[in-house]
Amino acid sequence: MGKMQWQNSLSVGIDLIDNQHKQWIEYYNDTVEAVATQKGQAQVMKTLGFLIDYTETHFATEERHMTAGRYPALPEHKAKHDELRSTLAGLVKDFEDEGVTPELKKAIDTFLGNWLVQHIQEIDMKFGAYAKQEKIVIS
Ligand SMILES: [Fe+2]
Ligand SMILES: [Fe+2]
Repeated sequence: MGKMQWQNSLSVGIDLIDNQHKQWIEYYNDTVEAVATQKGQAQVMKTLGFLIDYTETHFATEERHMTAGRYPALPEHKAKHDELRSTLAGLVKDFEDEGVTPELKKAIDTFLGNWLVQHIQEIDMKFGAYAKQEKIVIS
């Protein structure tokens, strides 16, 4: 997959969340580039660090709004977030132990990008529909 571009089909209909997904894609693309151009350990760690911090910010935002909106599917949605949280922690550990290996490159280029697109289209989209249906205002 490599670098990604935002497209309308990724919109969940909530500006705050769409904007965070756009920002996430920027951090993701920076990470893909740092890995692809072998910018050195420090640069890869830096971009990966930004991406992971932003992932946490974003997940926390969604979880806060899902809690406030009494979203019934919150436990399943949060479980998906938790899976990625531990995957990312594992990636950092692998990187710290072994640097940029072909496996790490693949995990970032393929797995992470696909994860985001799938998660938005299958999971975040449902919360977007719920928020709309329940007329929940998110800003
Ligand atoms: Fe989510
Ligand atoms: Fe999301």
